[in-house]
Amino acid sequence: MNILEKIKKSINHFYNTKNNIIKSPEHAYNIWADNYDDEKDNLILYYDNIILKELISKIQLKDKIIFDYGCGTGRNWSLILNKNPAKVIGCDISKKMLHKLNKKYPNADVYQSKDLMLPFLLNNTCDIIISTLVIAHIIDIEKMFSEWERIIKNKSDIIITDFHPELLAKGGVRTFKNGTEIITIENYYHSLKTIEEILFRFGFKVNNLIEFKIDESVKHFYAKHKALNLYEKFYNTPFIYGIHLSR
Ligand SMILES: C[S@@+](CC[C@H](N)C(=O)[O-])C[C@H]1O[C@@H](n2cnc3c(N)ncnc32)[C@H](O)[C@@H]1O
Repeated sequence: MNILEKIKKSINHFYNTKNNIIKSPEHAYNIWADNYDDEKDNLILYYDNIILKELISKIQLKDKIIFDYGCGTGRNWSLILNKNPAKVIGCDISKKMLHKLNKKYPNADVYQSKDLMLPFLLNNTCDIIISTLVIAHIIDIEKMFSEWERIIKNKSDIIITDFHPELLAKGGVRTFKNGTEIITIENYYHSLKTIEEILFRFGFKVNNLIEFKIDESVKHFYAKHKALNLYEKFYNTPFIYGIHLSR
């Protein structure tokens, strides 16, 4: 781990240790897998769906090879498969999330990935990479994007959605309930500018950026979770983004 990664990890640790049990993404999602698909009134999942629908409505998925990075339980797969792609391939660090996906899609082409490497994919094989709500869990996004660059074709699209870095920078955390425990999942701050700059080096340009911020229209989500203190604290802060890049 280089110095920058160590600093990011310490900042992240500082924010996360304020009130919760912190777990690595692999560990946390292995626990959350059991009820991830049953989440109700989850602000992030609700808006993620809206953003992904909008972004993929602007591109052609038909007959394309789609790679879903951090596919989890395959929450987005019915949406993707409805567009008649040639193939959908997924990977995730969490065995239990993949197990849930496999129950829904027994013939799915999915792999458990480690260390951000994708040895199960040849060079220049995917037309589109989709990654929803994943990359803030990753420290070394340079390494991750370099591996994406290896497996993606020259003419291609990337769609990323995620918890907004501005919310992370203000101390926002990603949590879920496990019985009576609240578990916080490790997150790392990467600005949108950093993400865009790395992908720009690989020739990708932004076509579409969608952001939603915390305002009156989402207050009812906070009210349902008895978290109006967080609503006040983070009022006017963007909480989610989606970005479509192509080359
Ligand atoms: C919030 S879930 C999103 C799952 C799915 N994309 C969705 O939108 O429902 C984040 C996913 O990222 C996966 N993940 C976290 N770190 C990862 C890594 N380094 N490599 C691959 N997957 C990772 C987690 O295991 C989890 O399934």
